[in-house]
Amino acid sequence: MKTVKVNLNKRSYKIHIGNNILKKLPSLIKLDKPDTPLFVVTNKKVNTLYGAKLKKALKPLGKKILFYEIPDSERAKSFPVYIKTIRRLARFAKKVKPFVFAFGGGVTGDLTGFVASAYRRGVPYIQIPTTLLAQVDSAIGGKVAIDIKEAKNIVGNFYQPKMVICDLVFLKTLPERELRNGLAEVVKYGIIKDKKLFSFLEKNIKSILKLNAKTLEYIVFKSCFIKARVVEKDELDTKDLRAILNFGHTLGHAIEAASCYSRSVMHGEAVALGMVMASRIALKRKMIKKRDYEKICSLIRRVVPKTKLKHIRLKNILNALSYDKKFIYGVNRFILPEGIGHVKIVDKVPDVLIKETIENTRV
Ligand SMILES: NC(=O)c1ccc[n+]([C@@H]2O[C@H](COP(=O)([O-])OP(=O)(O)OC[C@H]3O[C@@H](n4cnc5c(N)ncnc54)[C@H](O)[C@@H]3O)[C@@H](O)[C@H]2O)c1
Ligand SMILES: [Zn+2]
Repeated sequence: MKTVKVNLNKRSYKIHIGNNILKKLPSLIKLDKPDTPLFVVTNKKVNTLYGAKLKKALKPLGKKILFYEIPDSERAKSFPVYIKTIRRLARFAKKVKPFVFAFGGGVTGDLTGFVASAYRRGVPYIQIPTTLLAQVDSAIGGKVAIDIKEAKNIVGNFYQPKMVICDLVFLKTLPERELRNGLAEVVKYGIIKDKKLFSFLEKNIKSILKLNAKTLEYIVFKSCFIKARVVEKDELDTKDLRAILNFGHTLGHAIEAASCYSRSVMHGEAVALGMVMASRIALKRKMIKKRDYEKICSLIRRVVPKTKLKHIRLKNILNALSYDKKFIYGVNRFILPEGIGHVKIVDKVPDVLIKETIENTRV
């Protein structure tokens, strides 16, 4: 088992990564009160696959436990599901402070974290992410949120978990497209901060896709390590440091919005396209060597091979782009690579260059 510490003073916590580590849970949790009830938020799919395993792992704690199922997919990150979950929690833990578990992918993690942040002005929670995307990204860093019709992730909080457990065993049942979706974020970490991780991905992509435990452990560990270091420096996203995690996301979010968040383009696929586009903009601005640009495109093509933009209209992408949170007072903001392992924040990229890049990018 590998461990990454996120150093945030009183809000510090550990991320544990390894194969079959769920059974170590009771020895890792610290519960202050003897009567703390445990409230596990999950969905039907994850509960059917792994609910019994988690129940068994939690049993030695001898606490009252409830597994609460929320709907699958992004629609769980909504006010109706939030209210239902919080009311169930209130009935379950009437006079005591509960301990909450987010057991599932990023959707479950974001909703549960938001519930934990609000109930009784904050109760402790643990993230047990079961998708690669959640293990390398959404479960870490404390951004918790739900969506409203007008915008995604717009109602939320910063609320750090007490612990994150990344058990690689869960990834065995993950559909390949979901695995590749998470891998796009791992490639992102390589490009923004870690040339060695990037080379590792180039060499080991096949063994990762075959779910080799050692290679998986390495990439999840490295990703958590990089995200933890960035979050430590800019927990509340106010210093332009956490912004580098948005590499590929400016155009990626616009592509997702232009496709109405349909499953035709998944988040990681949109980010993959966004990373290729940002790298192309960097090439045109002579910020990056052609050889590095080609290496980035080639790795991304191997990770996310099938995404095409053909069905999304350029006009809709540009329109979505103008609503992006990263457009500050009408000025656009991009994270652009200066090489592999290093990125720079660049404002005011000319509209013609953005347009030309979107039109010419095919992954
Ligand atoms: N908070 C953050 O910092 C942050 C960062 C990135 C993304 N996100 C959010 O994360 C969400 C996306 O997360 P996701 O990609 O994990 O999607 P998801 O939670 O919808 O999971 C994808 C699918 O995989 C299923 N699944 C989960 N674990 C499984 C397993 N072990 N085996 C088989 N199937 C399994 C789920 O039921 C679901 O159908 C989005 O809402 C996004 O906004 C948040
Ligand atoms: Zn992302």
